[in-house]
Amino acid sequence: MRLNKYIASCGAASRRGADALVEAGRVTVNGRIVQNHGADIDENADTVCVDGKRLNLQRAYVYIMLNKPAGVLCTCHDDRGRKTVLDIVSMPDARLFPVGRLDYDTEGLLLLTNDGDFAFRCTHPSREKDKTYYVRVKGALCAESLKRLENGVEIDGRMTSRAHVSVLERLKDITALSMTIHEGRNRQIKKMFEAVGCRVVYLKRTAIGNLTLGDLPTGQWRRLSDKDFSLLGIFPFSKQDKG
Ligand code: URA
Repeated sequence: MRLNKYIASCGAASRRGADALVEAGRVTVNGRIVQNHGADIDENADTVCVDGKRLNLQRAYVYIMLNKPAGVLCTCHDDRGRKTVLDIVSMPDARLFPVGRLDYDTEGLLLLTNDGDFAFRCTHPSREKDKTYYVRVKGALCAESLKRLENGVEIDGRMTSRAHVSVLERLKDITALSMTIHEGRNRQIKKMFEAVGCRVVYLKRTAIGNLTLGDLPTGQWRRLSDKDFSLLGIFPFSKQDKG
């Protein structure tokens, strides 16, 4: 097995994260630093360590959908003791990590797994899935702003790709919208609305591809079903193997 795939399969990092660990010289194979992430290893005989800690191949993979509440960090640990998504999905032995991220104050659909390879395939740009958000912004949005959001606005020096935006409700000083974007750039929705002079006051991810939150209450989680993988269009290797 390739070294980066092995590290990811052990749940130590995503495949891309594994490449970075190897390149940084933090990985040893049988006691020697290896900096070629494509190196072949024998997973039954070789000893692979990251920062001196031995990895074990995990066979029991876990795939979870969480309806993340606001006020929770999308990381595995916080030095400042703030609540993380792993405090909600408490499975200490599974060594879960979030697939992609949502901001501290963003709610909604978040996947967690300990299968680095699955996470790698979910987040790889070549398989980027549409992501749908329920957005509330302060004030009203004119037709021109909506068109700009759909056609692309400049954020961080680069245009966003086409988006789908529809107004759901216009209240006194709040507009509620549904927005589907194809990329997953940092704070993308908030920055897109900032670019048209609007402030997001509430944000919730409701779908990744065709996989939706359904009636999963905020703060609750459940394991992904075979139907969920079909809706997502990405399967763990174990399920692909079974055809
Ligand atoms: N866009 C944002 O601005 N924040 C998120 O958490 C997700 C998408």
